[in-house]
Amino acid sequence: MRVGVNKEIKNHEYRVGLTPGAVREYAAHGHEVLVETGAGTGIAADDAAYVAAGARIVPTAQEVFAEAQMIVKVKEPQPSEWVQLREDQILFTYLHLAPDPEQAKGLMASGVTAVAYETVTDRFGGLPLLAPMSEVAGRLSIEAAGAALKAYNGGRGVLLGGVPGVAPARIVVLGGGVVGTHAARMAVGLGAEVTIVDRSIPRLRQLDELFQGRVRTRVSTLEAIEHEISEADAVIGAVLIPGASAPKLVTRAMLGHMKRRAVLVDVAIDQGGCFETSHATTHADPTYEVDGVIHYCVANMPGAVPLTSSHALNNATLPYGLALADKGVAACDDDPGLKAGLNVQGGRIVNEAVAESLR
Ligand SMILES: NC(=O)c1ccc[n+]([C@@H]2O[C@H](COP(=O)([O-])OP(=O)(O)OC[C@H]3O[C@@H](n4cnc5c(N)ncnc54)[C@H](O)[C@@H]3O)[C@@H](O)[C@H]2O)c1
Repeated sequence: MRVGVNKEIKNHEYRVGLTPGAVREYAAHGHEVLVETGAGTGIAADDAAYVAAGARIVPTAQEVFAEAQMIVKVKEPQPSEWVQLREDQILFTYLHLAPDPEQAKGLMASGVTAVAYETVTDRFGGLPLLAPMSEVAGRLSIEAAGAALKAYNGGRGVLLGGVPGVAPARIVVLGGGVVGTHAARMAVGLGAEVTIVDRSIPRLRQLDELFQGRVRTRVSTLEAIEHEISEADAVIGAVLIPGASAPKLVTRAMLGHMKRRAVLVDVAIDQGGCFETSHATTHADPTYEVDGVIHYCVANMPGAVPLTSSHALNNATLPYGLALADKGVAACDDDPGLKAGLNVQGGRIVNEAVAESLR
């Protein structure tokens, strides 16, 4: 198959659909890979690296769209990209169509077959192509908290790990899933005092085993959340209820019980946020203050580390992408998890949950 990779054009998006390492795998499977010149700039992979991996460099995105039978991207296509997609093409990328009816219409009108990373499932019911970005965001959340706690950024001036004789920072992680676990790992590694709050007792049992006594765990109740956040230097919001907006676990009134210039990092902001006072921010201007509490609510945290994120994403997408390139859309018939990724086909939304939320 002829596989195309174009340079991402969404604002501040530096990741790339295929790394040179992934291109080499596609080439080894006998596929031809077209890469737009400069597509790998954000991950320090120049055109020569792609050529060495077996790709052909083409000068414009238009040529990639015109020639490729499958397009592999990172972010959802932008309006100038929808119009270049065709019914004999497969699009493999993050789409997040549910809150984006305009894009949904654009993709349906193009006739393209679109497979969305975020709805591909594995045999345990997990989301294998979403997990790597949650790992990145979870780990980054502690760096973000550490930065926001610095006095020159308006924070309390607490060092996460403390020093001998001075207590470390207290970090509360709301939601002990993928984001929460990776946040806790980083926080524990830096020597902070960590509490994970989750509504699932089996999950808390697993975390208790995993961290061998290095974190405290608590069941998510109003009382537990109120108490924990009142003592926290930083709170990481990492809850998810699949298919729904994030629950508002911390209300504005609760901010009054928090330490002044403590930090809230709302990783769940892409699902609407789990703090009542959250609104999405960007890497260019990541924080703001409400009632003396610093809020960090960047909606695309992994975009800050495109090199790590692109490799993590490619590690996860590669087997699925290769299956699509090898067999075409028929690959979905062999793998129900990949089939769950099918969002648009034949001018219709074919994923039931996505169709439902667009109705
Ligand atoms: N901002 C970003 O750049 C970015 C990047 C990646 C992921 N995310 C978001 O981070 C969030 C978490 O993702 P994840 O992969 O860790 O999800 P996950 O499903 O692995 O974990 C979510 C956890 O939240 C828990 N939970 C649900 N309701 C709760 C409640 N009321 N109280 C306490 N815990 C509760 C669940 O039991 C689960 O353990 C999602 O909204 C995801 O979209 C954001």
